[in-house]
Formats: sequence, structure tokens, C-alpha cells
Amino acid sequence: MAILKVARMGHPVLRQLAEEIPQNALRSAELKSLVDEMFETMDEYAGIGLAAPQVHFGLRIFIIRPDPADEESLRVAVNPVITPLSEEMSEGWEGCLSVPDIHGMVPRHVKIRLDAHDRDGKKYAVEFEDFPARVAQHEGDHLDGVLFIDRMTNLSTLAYGQEWRRYHAPRPKPEEGEEGEDAEGAEAPEEGEG
Ligand code: NI
Repeated sequence: MAILKVARMGHPVLRQLAEEIPQNALRSAELKSLVDEMFETMDEYAGIGLAAPQVHFGLRIFIIRPDPADEESLRVAVNPVITPLSEEMSEGWEGCLSVPDIHGMVPRHVKIRLDAHDRDGKKYAVEFEDFPARVAQHEGDHLDGVLFIDRMTNLSTLAYGQEWRRYHAPRPKPEEGEEGEDAEGAEAPEEGEG
């Protein structure tokens, strides 16, 4: 196992169309091992999602964990197909390990279906709404050479991390009995980098 190096914006691998995993490789030890290293890398950088091109593998694989506190939210998607289930779009903050320290508002479909294979090569389908749907669409885009900034319709929302945390980050509501302390530096509940 190893922590993999994350490709940053400008590296060509982030702009290429990633390749499908052939049917006969869906259950291979190599695939499992790459998925495990992707998890280790995502953990190391506290990401909520990671796509194979971000670690220099031009392959159609991504992993997500939209709720870092919930292991159940963890998904491996090999050869994923994302289908929007409604026309409805919503804007939300995104960041990306390949676009370090930058945040921006991105429109995404509110509801989607994800068809993919898991780490063992087993086919599954799952429906996502809101934040998990956003994370899956962000990671799916990486497989097509698309970065979240390409999807932005209002570049004026672009912000560096420090300024984003100070002026834009969603603030958790103060707990009952607590003073409404400045939440600066607190982890935003609905934002993460992938
Ligand atoms: Ni990303």
C-alpha cells in the first residue's frame, strides 16, 4: 500500500478521457490494490472523493465518501455511468485536491443514478440526492477530463481557502447553550475536496 501522488491542474492526465476497465480485469488483484491505494491517498489528504486520473491512472474508477464520519457512505465506482434523474440543478461549493486551495460554486443535478462495479467487480446501481449526488458528479467529471471550474457559471465565486472559510463557508449552527462563536476554521459540513 502506498499514498499516491496527486496530479494538479495543468497535468495532462487530468484533461484526458479515462479508459474503461476491461471486463476480464474487473476482479483483478491489481484493480483492488489500486482502489485500496486510492482510499489511503484520499484519507491522507482528507478528501471526500478521488478519481483515478487524479493519481495519474487514466482509468474509469472513482471512490467517494460524502460523509467522512460515515463509513457506509463509502463507494467504489468502476466504469461508472451517471444518469440525471431530474432536470433540477442546484449550486453548491466545491473544491478539488487537484485544484488546491480553490473553492467555487458549481451547478449540479440534484438527483442522479449511479451504475457501476464495486471493488469486487460486482455491478450495482444506487440513487443519490443533494451532496452525495454532487460528489459523484464531480468525480465522474474527472474521468472525462473535466474539472469543477469548467462547470462554474459564475467565476466571481472563486475563492482561496482562507477567504472562503472567512466569508463563504457554511457555518454550523451554534449548539444550544453555546455562544455563537466565530466558526472560522471549523470544518464546513457541506463542503469537501475531491
Ligand atoms: Ni476533484
